[in-house]
Amino acid sequence: MSKRRSAAEAYEKIPTIIHDSSAAAAAALAQEVKELITSRAAKKKTAVLGLATGSTPVSFYRELIRLHREEGLSFKNVVTFNLDEYYGLTPEHPESYHRFMCDQLFDHIDIPKENIHLPSGLVPSDQVFEHCRAYEEMIDAAGGVDFQILGIGRTGHIGFNEPGSSRESLTRRITLDRITRQDAAADFRGEENVPRFAITMGVSTILRAKKIVLMAWGENKAGVVTKAVEGPVTDAVSASFLQEHAEARFFIDKGAARELTRVKLPWLVGPVKWSPSETRRAVCWLSSSMDRPVLKLIDEDYNEHGLSDLLSEQGPAYKLNINIFNQLQHTISGWPGGKPNADDTFRPERAKPYPKRSLVLSPEPQDAVVSLGSTIDRLVEQGHDIRVVAMTSGSLRVADSEADKFASILQEIATLSPEGWDEQTDYARHILRLLEEKGEFGEDQPALRQLKSLILRGELRDAAHALGIPQEKVQFLNLPFYERGRYRRFKLTPEDTSEVVKLLQEFRPHQIYITGDAADPSSVAALSFRALEQALAELQHEDWSSACSVWLYRGREKALEPWEIDMAVPASPMQLERKARALTRYQSLTTLEMDVTKVNQGTAQQYDALGLANYEAIESFQRWRKV
Ligand code: GLP
Repeated sequence: MSKRRSAAEAYEKIPTIIHDSSAAAAAALAQEVKELITSRAAKKKTAVLGLATGSTPVSFYRELIRLHREEGLSFKNVVTFNLDEYYGLTPEHPESYHRFMCDQLFDHIDIPKENIHLPSGLVPSDQVFEHCRAYEEMIDAAGGVDFQILGIGRTGHIGFNEPGSSRESLTRRITLDRITRQDAAADFRGEENVPRFAITMGVSTILRAKKIVLMAWGENKAGVVTKAVEGPVTDAVSASFLQEHAEARFFIDKGAARELTRVKLPWLVGPVKWSPSETRRAVCWLSSSMDRPVLKLIDEDYNEHGLSDLLSEQGPAYKLNINIFNQLQHTISGWPGGKPNADDTFRPERAKPYPKRSLVLSPEPQDAVVSLGSTIDRLVEQGHDIRVVAMTSGSLRVADSEADKFASILQEIATLSPEGWDEQTDYARHILRLLEEKGEFGEDQPALRQLKSLILRGELRDAAHALGIPQEKVQFLNLPFYERGRYRRFKLTPEDTSEVVKLLQEFRPHQIYITGDAADPSSVAALSFRALEQALAELQHEDWSSACSVWLYRGREKALEPWEIDMAVPASPMQLERKARALTRYQSLTTLEMDVTKVNQGTAQQYDALGLANYEAIESFQRWRKV
């Protein structure tokens, strides 16, 4: 059984440590692993590690490499077993877990090759059973896994134990879940290229490990982490089986902790310091769980729902209600750039200067239109000097079929006007050949990547045009970390920051829109956010910089909750339609983002249910720092 260490963790059935950052968590974990390795080495014994892939453990592996290089940690006595491998991929394939592990860890430490074990993605079908049985035996022969590292997929899987995997499951071939394949779509340039099967250790294999740490970062994982930690043990969430392990722990960051009861509803687990934001959160929660508008809450509602402290401190209900109602009311503004010549005491954005230079940063070319299309629409209409900047090319998300379409049309045009089109024909042929040579799981060559990036550029220009932004106001930064990297293992460099510094120095914005503050730290959004953060820190002494407001928006997956919103920009049905139309311009993207209008409608419904005005849709923002 798990140890319960405090009232705040009463809901948690697995010891869960919320670290300040993923980097801090990775460092703490690496330290534990180092101690295991060195104490075993002192006794001339091996340390057996169970290893995971994905973006989550990358910072942990980087820290192990650092310990090896800078502190002399040797891996000579380490034996490793990886959780899983895609079925059908050669070890050399850039997305194979073999290749991932070599690139991210094994090639940089002194582990003997023969100590490394991964399931093979290439065993013929009729030998899969035998291969898996042998893998189990090798683990046992090594003395079992001493320390198992895990990540978690959005379906709650550990390894590739998709929903339905039983407690008794062993190493085997499994069919990947739809959500898992969608999540891997960007890695493979399209869902259709993601392998359908994988070989994975079973739940029971994983639970045989002596010690287990599961890591999770970013708010995308918050829901599934909470299910695993607080929910029932169920094969629908294979990570929940860790509740039955005496030495399993979760290491998570603040983003991934967002949905835990102690974070989300702290008053249910212990005394709370009633800061303004906690108060706002509690009143909104009470209103929505009672299904009653804020202004109709009564003293008994507070008392009967664990909020008696708050009531006695800030009540009676009438006073508390009106206070929060006013705060929420003041978040609503149809003037995201500030309302000129109006009293701005209670408005989210200041009135002056007018017009403003508004910088809309889009980590990938579609993000900004998806998340703030209607707000952009208003900023343009209200006369602000707006600049939309795609920070990365996003080319890795463009489907092959789009490049094929473009090259085929080009080739056809050439047949219509054959004079002087030789170069174009050659180009089209070259692209078509690259596509053909690429095969089922191949990589995009530079020319193909460039074409895909141009296609996406065109789409952003088109989408911007649909929102009234002229071409010259759309800019492409092409940050190098994206061009040089791959999903799940991008690495930010000083060059990235200096590109952002240049942009800021040239445009000198009065307000900036950006996302990624709470995202998985290795995601494009999070790295783009960090580049901005570092650039702003570098420029903090410039006059415009201290006066510049920064508004955070969220990606399409997770809207801000009403208590987190500092600016709620309403959209009329027509404005929402215009945004939906702008979104249709992104034809090349493999995952459609259209349901985002539903997210905006959802926020509007939440405001309505709280007793505020009933709008068609709302785009929401959080203030990153005060002006
Ligand atoms: C894959 C791996 C898992 C990993 C999961 C999450 O499905 N088989 O072991 O935990 O992805 O990946 P990420 O860490 O990139 O979010």
